[in-house]
Amino acid sequence: MNRLSWLFAGILGFFATSWLGLVAYPYLQLGGLRPERSPETGALVPAPLTGSAVAGARVFAANGCMYCHSQQVRPEWLSTDIEKGWGPRQTVARDYLNERPAFLGTMRTGPDLTNIGVRQPSVGWHYQHLYEPAVASPGSIMPAFRFLFRVQRIGAEPSPDAVAVRGPHAPPAGYEVVPTAEARDLVAYLLSRKHDEPLPEAGGNP
Ligand code: HEC
Repeated sequence: MNRLSWLFAGILGFFATSWLGLVAYPYLQLGGLRPERSPETGALVPAPLTGSAVAGARVFAANGCMYCHSQQVRPEWLSTDIEKGWGPRQTVARDYLNERPAFLGTMRTGPDLTNIGVRQPSVGWHYQHLYEPAVASPGSIMPAFRFLFRVQRIGAEPSPDAVAVRGPHAPPAGYEVVPTAEARDLVAYLLSRKHDEPLPEAGGNP
């Protein structure tokens, strides 16, 4: 073989090894993963995303929430994630079966959201927090997502899902802040974030 053939064989070998390691081996290892049935409730784990939570995942992506929030609880031996209350157990590959794409995240400017549906189940709190984070969570540096809400004149009756906004950001008298369809979908998605069911491969469960 001349030197060019060696070079060509080397480059081919490099790509073949990468493909085997990054595509073929993970596929063989994880490609057959299926949801588990919970022995207690018989429900599928992970639960499929349904209804407006599916649209909410797109709102989550479009607004870049994953630039500040991860969705992965690391194991106890590697981190203090569980100690911080971000989940009762580490997350494993099976947790992400229904996620397309999975918002694992790379930065944690804000807390991990893997189990925010368990930690904060109040719809009203999420609306208030998205509209004015510092009101719901004093001292918060999270940007406000006010464009996901509408300020409207109060009709005969106040809207049942009007957001409780007080202080300097409150709407003028006779007006109320209501969530748009995007805000509703986003909060449905946030409330669907629950990975607290035991899975055999996730180890130490509560
Ligand atoms: C620039 C960074 C940043 C971005 C972008 C961001 N957040 Fe946050 N978020 C934070 C910080 C910091 C906190 C912690 C303070 C607080 O509770 O507001 C937080 C807190 C939260 C909490 C409460 C978590 C808890 O454990 O109490 C939720 C829910 C949340 N963010 C959702 C979102 C959603 C949904 C989006 C996208 C629409 C988003 N965040 C975008 C920084 C960010």
